[in-house]
Amino acid sequence: MAIDPSFDESREVVDSHNGHDVWGPVDEPETLGIHGTHVAVDFDVCIEDGACVEDCPVDVFEWVDTPGHPESERKADPVNEIQCIDCMLCVDVCPVDAIDVDSSR
Ligand code: F3S
Ligand code: F3S
Ligand code: ZN
Repeated sequence: MAIDPSFDESREVVDSHNGHDVWGPVDEPETLGIHGTHVAVDFDVCIEDGACVEDCPVDVFEWVDTPGHPESERKADPVNEIQCIDCMLCVDVCPVDAIDVDSSR
């Protein structure tokens, strides 16, 4: 299941992490929510593919450990979402459509 591109309407901010918002629901370790707002990664969809981490030209993403999550034990965290230049590579390369980037957000 891909990230919901309307998550900012259907979800609420429940936490902050590494300088960005976390959109719930969150029930660790199985349910982790969406990290980031301009560059949003659905941690419950991410399978640790890593293409986004490798390909982003401005290094928006860093790995964060998520032991016990059913999909993968690491997630790409958009720690530098403020640096994003909207190239959309991450959106294109993610095999499970875990990332949404929206310049209006
Ligand atoms: Fe990087 Fe994705 Fe933005 S690849 S520049 S975070 S659109
Ligand atoms: Fe995860 Fe997709 Fe990146 S699976 S590590 S968000 S390419
Ligand atoms: Zn985060």
